[in-house]
Amino acid sequence: MPRHFLVDTDLTPEEQASVLDLAAALKADRFSRRPLAGPQTVGVLFDKTSTRTRVSFATGVSDLGGTPLIINPGESQLGHKETVADSARVFSRMLAAVVWRTYAQSGLVEMARYSDVPVVNALSDDYHPCQILADLLTLREHVGEVSGRTLVYLGDAANNMANSYLLGCATAGMHVRIAGPEGYLPRADVVAAARERAGSTGGSVLVTTDAREALAGADAVVTDTWVSMGQESEKAERTEIFRPYAVTSEAMALAADDAVFLHCLPAHRGLEVAAEVIDGPASLVWDEAENRLHVQKALLTFLLDSSGLSADLPAA
Ligand code: CP
Ligand code: NVA
Repeated sequence: MPRHFLVDTDLTPEEQASVLDLAAALKADRFSRRPLAGPQTVGVLFDKTSTRTRVSFATGVSDLGGTPLIINPGESQLGHKETVADSARVFSRMLAAVVWRTYAQSGLVEMARYSDVPVVNALSDDYHPCQILADLLTLREHVGEVSGRTLVYLGDAANNMANSYLLGCATAGMHVRIAGPEGYLPRADVVAAARERAGSTGGSVLVTTDAREALAGADAVVTDTWVSMGQESEKAERTEIFRPYAVTSEAMALAADDAVFLHCLPAHRGLEVAAEVIDGPASLVWDEAENRLHVQKALLTFLLDSSGLSADLPAA
């Protein structure tokens, strides 16, 4: 059975830690693993636009000895002229893995159900798990051991990034605080899953509408756009609703003295984050963006290894 990565909790805490270890090793020695030697092809499919995900997967697949096949929005039959199941069956005959950015999480679940090769969530409406791996690697590099540290997310607390911070950081044993306005808080099932995971890792979960409460003493402050892809028609009302949750210098001052700032990007200066924060000394956003490359290479290597599909399984 192939291993998939559709949601942050698809990796156990131990697996997540070993993927991050491998990411650090691949960052230090970029071409040291060749699980896609052949070269084998990895499909990287986009139903939504992308810069980082597109570039990091294309580069990462090449680094691993493979060939990326980028399929941009509207370029395939997937999902509109052909069922996800039928596309998955065809992909399985030719590709080593499928990386897919799409809207509904249910599409990814369907793809994985019919796929004989690993399926990776490259962002859905519900989760963005590859991004959290990059954030965790960045925190490891700059803050040290992440377990026991506190991460606070401010803004649209019902979006894919908020959900993945809850699940991915709880998996890492972090204390996760999510703050957003009433009506834009995470779903109860996501919070319950994060609490369950935190219960086994020593982490914890706080969901609140009070940004000041969430920020108090935090080690890392993170945010995301207030208008996710697909929500463009709500831009005006969202900009008003989320304004009290902007990451400004005043907000950063409530966190720990040495708190760092993360943002998955693309960012909007003057909206969810002040320019002096994202362009200031606490900001790690460029390392965070680069780390997409390293963590995704490690993830693909792990998934191919564990699915018995790697071209260069290390000697036992
Ligand atoms: N952070 C992120 O996923 O960026 P892109 O939308 O540019 O891929
Ligand atoms: N929440 C954002 C993340 C972009 C990387 C979106 O879905 O558009």
